[in-house]
Amino acid sequence: MSVRIDGRAIARALSDKTSETVHHLNARGIEPTLAVVLVGDDPASDVYVRRKISECRKVGIHSIERRLPGDCTEEALLDLLETMNEDSRIHGILVQLPLPAAIDAAKVLDRISPDKDVDGFHPVNVGRLSTGSLGLVPCTPLGIMMLLDSVVDDYRGLNVVIIGKSNIVGKPVAMLLLEREATVTVTHIETRNLPDIARAADIVIAAAGAPHLVRGYWIKPEAIVIDVGITRVIDHDGTSRIVGDCATHELDHAKAVTPVPGGVGPMTIACLLSNTAMAAERHA
Ligand code: GUN
Repeated sequence: MSVRIDGRAIARALSDKTSETVHHLNARGIEPTLAVVLVGDDPASDVYVRRKISECRKVGIHSIERRLPGDCTEEALLDLLETMNEDSRIHGILVQLPLPAAIDAAKVLDRISPDKDVDGFHPVNVGRLSTGSLGLVPCTPLGIMMLLDSVVDDYRGLNVVIIGKSNIVGKPVAMLLLEREATVTVTHIETRNLPDIARAADIVIAAAGAPHLVRGYWIKPEAIVIDVGITRVIDHDGTSRIVGDCATHELDHAKAVTPVPGGVGPMTIACLLSNTAMAAERHA
């Protein structure tokens, strides 16, 4: 039977630490503050933003929410970010993605001050990550490393296969693992013989957004599986549930597996809070 990596417990422990950091900053007269920007009325983004704000409150981080209409101009959004960059009371800025098609997301992310970029998406932070220097690291990859650290002592020489080459998960987690001297393979939609490649891995990180893509026979005995997928599916009886990228019920022979929900998901928000506290600390 494989170990179930409890993302909720690990996220709670991280948030407790963040809470302590916030407390110390408060004692020095600093109020860590996160500004969250939502453009348009995408229901899923609305849910994510509400969650982020309510989790901020739990650890004592002050949050500011700014909503812009879906038809706002790129210029209006860039101006808002400029104002937030200059406001010394704001330590972290997050623009919820995706943005409406008429807005150039790369240009928007580029406008956030790298020191306030708690998502770690600014090209300066991407560069810092790829050279192993001190920057703000994207939240989901950071959370994945913490989950892995609970079951791995030494990454040197381990074969890691990452399924999915996104800028938000696949590429940054590859950089973090290379820093630990793992041997990393990043696969994508055009990759051939994916099951064979996965079967050689000591660690598989599935971030393809394809429900139950990864089957039991893809995973070698005693491998570790991190499931980043979160897809809502509707059952025959009309009820909906969240499923991951892995057929978890076929993974009893793995060493450890993250559940969905309750694995990577809780870590992403906990890392956002931790990044915000860290940005406030560095600013101080
Ligand atoms: N949309 C989906 N995931 C994310 C994320 O990690 N950060 C932001 N800003 N938007 C997202």
